[in-house]
Amino acid sequence: MMEKQTLSEPTTAHRLHCIGCGAEIAGAEAAEDFRCRECGNLFEVEYPELLVRGSSSREKTSPILAANDAARMGHPDSILAPLKPTKGLNGPPSHGVEGWKELWRRRRLSRGPLDRSGVWRFRELLPFMADERNVVTLEEGNTPLYHLPRCAASLGVEDLFAKHQGMNPTGSFKDTGMTAALSVAHERGFEWVACASTGNTSASMAAYAARAGMRSLVLIPEGKVAWGKLSQSLDYGAVTCQLKTDFDGCVSVLAELVRRAPVYLLNSVNPYRLEGQKTAAIEMAESLDWQVPDHLIVPGGNLANSSALGKGFLELRALGLIDRLPRISVIQADGANPLFLSWTEHKGKKFSPVEAHTRASAIRIGNPASWKKAVGILESTGGWCEQASEQEIALAKAEIGAEGIGCEPASAVTLAGLKKLVAQGHVGKQESVVLLLTGHTLKDPEYTIDFHRGKLLTAQETAAMGADQRKQMEALASAPQVLEPTAEAVMRVLEAAVRG
Ligand code: F0G
Repeated sequence: MMEKQTLSEPTTAHRLHCIGCGAEIAGAEAAEDFRCRECGNLFEVEYPELLVRGSSSREKTSPILAANDAARMGHPDSILAPLKPTKGLNGPPSHGVEGWKELWRRRRLSRGPLDRSGVWRFRELLPFMADERNVVTLEEGNTPLYHLPRCAASLGVEDLFAKHQGMNPTGSFKDTGMTAALSVAHERGFEWVACASTGNTSASMAAYAARAGMRSLVLIPEGKVAWGKLSQSLDYGAVTCQLKTDFDGCVSVLAELVRRAPVYLLNSVNPYRLEGQKTAAIEMAESLDWQVPDHLIVPGGNLANSSALGKGFLELRALGLIDRLPRISVIQADGANPLFLSWTEHKGKKFSPVEAHTRASAIRIGNPASWKKAVGILESTGGWCEQASEQEIALAKAEIGAEGIGCEPASAVTLAGLKKLVAQGHVGKQESVVLLLTGHTLKDPEYTIDFHRGKLLTAQETAAMGADQRKQMEALASAPQVLEPTAEAVMRVLEAAVRG
C-alpha cells in the first residue's frame, strides 16, 4: 500500500501565482492537482528576483493577465511593460542582457549536459531548481527552424517557417516541458509520476522517468492513441492503463488518483511544464537574431502550449531581449473546437466543453484545462483562433510532408489554419509566419499510410471537398505499389511517374 509522503520544499527563486484570484504560494504548497485551493484556477511560475510588476496597480497580476487586463482597459501599448527586470540573484548580468545572449550561444559548444539542452541552456530564465544536479535531461530542445518555400509560394506569403518541436528526443514538444516538471518531481523526492494523455505526454513522461530511475503511470483513452506513441510508453517501461473512455475521462480519473496516492502529476496543469515549453520562444527569437516573427501559429488541444510560448515572449520582452511580441494564433480541429466556439461566440468570456472527434488524436480534447491561459495569450498578443476540417488537416499534413519535413496530424492544423487567416486578411502576405510543429511524422504512420492509400477520409468527406482541394489531394497522394520483382515492372512505374 502506498503512503503519502511529506516533501520538503527547496529554497528557490520562484513562487506560484494563481491566474484567477492572484493568490501566491510557494511551489511545495500547491495542491496535488495544481488547482488553487481558493478559486480552482491554475497557477503560473513567477520569479520575483528576475522580474517585478511594472506598476503598483498590477502588482499582484501575472504577466499574461496583466497584459490582458490592460488590453481590455484600452491601452494598446499596455503589454509593453507588464513586467520589469530586477537585479537579484538571478537578474541580468552586470554587462546586461547582451551578456546572456553571448553566454547562451557559447553553451552550444559546451559538453555539459545542461548546456547541451535547449531548455537548460537558458536556465537563467527558469530558476526554479534548488540544485542543478537534480535536473533530468535527454538533451531536448535546440530544434530546427525550417523554411517552407513551397507552402509559402502556394499561400502567397513571403516568409514561412516551421519550428519543428517534433525533432525532440521522444518526437514531440512535450520533452521541453517534461525535463522541467519531471526534474521538480525528482528534486522533491517523488518515486512515481503520472499523466493522462493523448499519447505524446505519456511517451515523454515515460522516457524522462526512466532516465531518472523513477516509475511512471500512464492513463490513455483505449483505442484513441496512435501506435507510435503507445509503443513508446511501453518501451520506456511505464505502467500503461488504457481506460475505456476519452482523454477528458482519463483526466477525471487521474484527478482523483493524485489525491489518493503519492504520484506527482505531470499534465500541463503542472506549471513547471510550461516553463520548459516557453524555451521554444527563446530559441525562436535567438535563431532570428533576437527578432520575432509577425505571427506564430500553434495547434490547440489542452491549450497550455500557446500560453507557454506567450509567457516566453512576454518575459523576453520585459527583459529587453526582444522589442515586440508576435501575434499568437491557436488552431483547433473543427471536431474538437471548444476554444474556437468560445472565442468566436463569446470573445473568450464564456466556455463550454464539447464532445471531441477528430483523427488528429493528439488534440482530441473537449474540455481543455488551460483554456483561460490560452484566451489570455490570444488577447495579449492580438492573435486569433481558427478551426480546420478533417480534409483541410489531411491536405496540410501532406503539403508539409512534401517539403521533406513531415509532422503528425495535430501539427498540420497550423498550416490549414494559416490558409484561413491569410484568406481573411488577418495575416498579411508580407508578414513573417512561424508554424509550431508539435509532433514528428513517425508518431502516427497509420494516418499517413491511410491518406496515401486513399483510405483516410469517408466517401461523404471526400464528396464534401471542393474541386481544387480534391485535385491538390490527388496530386499529393501516392500509394505504395506491389509489383512483380522485375526491373521491367519497376521501369513502367518510373516512366508513369516521370510522365506525371
Ligand atoms: N500537438 C501535439 C502533437 C500534441 O500532442 C498536443 C497535446 C498538442 C498539439 C496540443 O497542445 O495541449 O498544449 O494545447 N497533447 C497532449 C498529450 C494533450 O497528452 O500528449 P496543448
